[in-house]
Amino acid sequence: MSAPNKSYDPVEVASLRPDEVTRMRDEALAAIAAAADLEAFKQVRLAHAGDRSPLALANREIGALPPHAKADAGRRVGAARKQIADALKTRQAELEDERDRRVLVDEAVDVTLPWDRAPRGARHPLTTTAERMADVFISMGFELAEGPEVEAEWFNFDALNFPPGHPARDMQDTLFVESEDSGLVLRTHTSPVQIRALLSRELPVYVVCTGKTFRTDELDATHSPVFHQMEGLVVDEGIGMADLRGAIDAFVTGMFGAGLRTRFRPSYFPFTEPSAEVDMQCFVCRGGSAEPGAPPCRTCKSEGWIELGGCGVVNPRVLTACGVDTDRYSGWAFGLGVDRTLMFRHGVEDMHDMVEGDVRFTLPFGMEI
Ligand code: PHE
Repeated sequence: MSAPNKSYDPVEVASLRPDEVTRMRDEALAAIAAAADLEAFKQVRLAHAGDRSPLALANREIGALPPHAKADAGRRVGAARKQIADALKTRQAELEDERDRRVLVDEAVDVTLPWDRAPRGARHPLTTTAERMADVFISMGFELAEGPEVEAEWFNFDALNFPPGHPARDMQDTLFVESEDSGLVLRTHTSPVQIRALLSRELPVYVVCTGKTFRTDELDATHSPVFHQMEGLVVDEGIGMADLRGAIDAFVTGMFGAGLRTRFRPSYFPFTEPSAEVDMQCFVCRGGSAEPGAPPCRTCKSEGWIELGGCGVVNPRVLTACGVDTDRYSGWAFGLGVDRTLMFRHGVEDMHDMVEGDVRFTLPFGMEI
């Protein structure tokens, strides 16, 4: 063990010289005064009052001084540290006060602001249009039917008389669900609900179904890979094409008002025979724009007619697949476009508006719920 260093000169401990202690104290006090917010204050406290601050380090040197010098240095360092601690306390209180006052201003709630003017949400016009369309039939005694959007190929195609490999399966631009042999598709039309309704209900059946349908179309002004249809199905005794025509007329009157004619054009669907495309007279020009010399009509592109969808007498093969006695029962079905109906009923010209979810589009339809 080495002997105590009797010749130790306290002046050599530079950090304990009175002027040096004063300098360190003044530097700390200046920094404390300059701390502009609590974040800066935290740094200043660490730098000038922390374990590794200049005065804390100086304090550790006191033990090395000769006894007579220890008391004096201890008092000076202690007094400086006390001043710093006091200044820290005062500054912290000031800064906390400032922060509290600022929070009161920044986060103030103006309780005099009107509280009842936040617009309520509303359902999308496609939803309300679909319901309005279905309501025409509900009011005639039809029931609502449902089916899944991810549908078995058997319901979407086979039971509807699309045999495997039939080109009509491609006609529908089908989105298949992975894997290739999953047997599942995103339903390409609402017609599989016809099958579900016939398999699950007692005859006679009078149902409508509205819902999403899917095809591989790119989104553009008139197409969307997700669109909506309303399916109608009647199966009862003695039902034929004339009943279908009457139902379509009732629909057009219910949705667009009285006096608009409808027409059927021959078409083909595997699940109806005979099949037709159904048109209604344009409800804006009421057919007038097709006359020579008449002003043009934007809604029907001056054709005078608007296409509503497809329809026909239910193919007996479909009824047989569902176990319906075709000697006794017959029926009709239709599939009408909901998006199309919304577009021409309200002059919507771009499909994008209906799918992009901008409330500036939906607001003019009102807050119908
Ligand atoms: N499902 C057909 C389609 O989407 C429309 C349709 C429905 C035709 C019912 C006839 C009967 O193209």
